[in-house]
Amino acid sequence: MMRITFLGHSCVLVAAGGRRLLIDPFIRPNPWAAHIQPETIEVTDVLLTHGHGDHCADALEFALRPGVRTIACYEIAEWLGAQGALHPVGMNIGGTLRWDGGQLRLVPAVHSSTLPDGKPGGVAAGFLIESDGKRIYHAGDTALSAEMRLIGELWPPDVALLPVGDHFTMGPEDALCAARLLHCTRVIALHYDTFPPIALSDARKREAQDAFVQDGRTLEFLSIGAEYQID
Ligand code: NI
Ligand code: MN
Repeated sequence: MMRITFLGHSCVLVAAGGRRLLIDPFIRPNPWAAHIQPETIEVTDVLLTHGHGDHCADALEFALRPGVRTIACYEIAEWLGAQGALHPVGMNIGGTLRWDGGQLRLVPAVHSSTLPDGKPGGVAAGFLIESDGKRIYHAGDTALSAEMRLIGELWPPDVALLPVGDHFTMGPEDALCAARLLHCTRVIALHYDTFPPIALSDARKREAQDAFVQDGRTLEFLSIGAEYQID
């Protein structure tokens, strides 16, 4: 069983195989997540898809806690390590990290990756997380990409977390194409409404959800703090 807690923007906590993986923490600067208290969130690992501030703003706060690993592309892990992150684990696209109870793999994302101080953050990534025979895909920030066809052929996810806010990433219409390439019927929306350029109207959300349903799929816009279970 895996459990996902949506914490706003692209931030989710994934409980999988005895670990608590916090992906792309952007809680304190996010006014929509003001009711979430980062200090109360138990975490074993921080996963970062890329270096942009709206994905790693709170990373160091968690990475400074005893025992917490920081898992990201090599350049980002090194950068956080230089600031005191206790257990940086620098990886790169194609690599898999295994633990008793599960594994995660870094997959390509089509996006840029600069760190908040302007240093290069390597390449942008997504994560495939597997545990108990289930698989979830957090796409990070990405365009619709042919890489998703490979993921769908080799590692089709039970649930895909996809950016849908357009402008900086794909929009909801491309997210439906992504779901098809991924052979995935359940999609959770990320990366929308946080800033004006990625605001989606209610009408566009409804149209997208209707299009997903007509295609035999679901697109969910979770409220911040909501939990989603995969069994
Ligand atoms: Ni980005
Ligand atoms: Mn972003």
